[in-house]
Amino acid sequence: MKLLVIGSGGREHALVWKLAQSPHVTELWCAPGNAGMAGEDLRNGKKVLCVDLAADALAALVACAQVNKIDLTVVGPDNPLALGIVDLFQQNRLRIWGPNQKAAQFEASKAFSQRFMEKYGIPTARAGTFSEAKLAKGFAAALGGRCVVKADGLALGKGVLICANQAEAEQAVDEIMIGKAFGAAGARVVIQEYLEGIEVSLHALCDGKTAKIFPTSQDHKRALDGDLGLNTGGMGTYSPTPFLTDAQLARTAKSILDPFLRGCVAEGIDYRGILYPGIMLTPEGAKVLEFNARFGDPETQVYLTRLESDLVELLDASVSGNLGTAELKWSPQASVCVVMASGGYPGSYVKGKPILGLDQAAMLPMVKVFHAGTARAGEQIVTNGGRVLGVTALGQDLKAAQAAAYAAVEKIHFDGAQFRRDIAAKAM
Ligand code: AMP
Ligand code: GLY
Repeated sequence: MKLLVIGSGGREHALVWKLAQSPHVTELWCAPGNAGMAGEDLRNGKKVLCVDLAADALAALVACAQVNKIDLTVVGPDNPLALGIVDLFQQNRLRIWGPNQKAAQFEASKAFSQRFMEKYGIPTARAGTFSEAKLAKGFAAALGGRCVVKADGLALGKGVLICANQAEAEQAVDEIMIGKAFGAAGARVVIQEYLEGIEVSLHALCDGKTAKIFPTSQDHKRALDGDLGLNTGGMGTYSPTPFLTDAQLARTAKSILDPFLRGCVAEGIDYRGILYPGIMLTPEGAKVLEFNARFGDPETQVYLTRLESDLVELLDASVSGNLGTAELKWSPQASVCVVMASGGYPGSYVKGKPILGLDQAAMLPMVKVFHAGTARAGEQIVTNGGRVLGVTALGQDLKAAQAAAYAAVEKIHFDGAQFRRDIAAKAM
């Protein structure tokens, strides 16, 4: 099979690395890819090929898939899904993995997801959706001011403002609805009650009828140790988490996925792809904070290093609706991913810093360094984004995996490198 992977981050490098191990793959293309993906080899000895097409250049991606006779395209990021890349490929009789535009609304519209969760009884926070600032502020006041104000649409992961009191809530509503801080994404807001608890990432692979749950993982969204500093795309992950036993995970998954699938049938939504619910473990049980319609980044890095099954077969079954009999096999080992970011991230940062020590890190056992924002400049690999690398390691338990990941981080150097020193510490 000839495959095309869309995206350029650590998640997509992990997808490419795992897909490249499948004996089904004869050619693997990435658009636009990064220096790490370009360094991967297939089992037949061929190199992965990167083409310089942006993930949201839909028409050009269709043409690329047609010209290169791609058998299956795999979509990484949320934006092309929300733009309808899956529908467009299907109209052109091209096979593609990911939710179509209607299904991708679970991520593209928080108002849509909130209404769906309430209608079908998926446990979530108490919430209201508003297109008028005055009503939004009134609802925040009814919650006592402590709440979370969310722009309805996609906002590069930044459209969520956590408010401690009514003054902050009113400011958040004004910023989003009147100041248009997130543009059209903020025409409506969802206001949720603030939930206390432990946050966990869930992933389920869906084929329109069936949903297969992954093990648990936990992201570290804040920039600095101890969950301080600004919110980021994710500074590190580990899997599994000790916060849910297998039995609790199964119960939680059922409480979310059964009504989810029932609701999809009722609403005519054909959900094929990953459903990634962000959940809060509260004293009253797990509640869904949001749905994402794609793999998490950097959750993918820890999941795919633990996945023993052939990912091509799983994604193919997800597209064809044959997941029912498929088995997802996971390594009992733990995985830890430490993100190395550019100095200044998630604020402004400088690109083009040479990255040293990648070869030394790669020689360590059980370690895989996934590239996110990297590029090749002559003989060197240089930084090219906020999150630069996802240094990932397996170990017999979380402690061993954590030690192995940080031993690899120690080998890697670039000017201004910034990373958290406490990834997975919460679990121990
Ligand atoms: P979201 O993009 O909706 O997941 O929100 C981003 C982050 O805000 C989440 O990862 C949580 O850490 C936090 N968050 C979102 N909703 C809530 C909530 N209702 N209560 C507490 N924290 C929340
Ligand atoms: N790890 C957070 C996200 O992918 O949204």
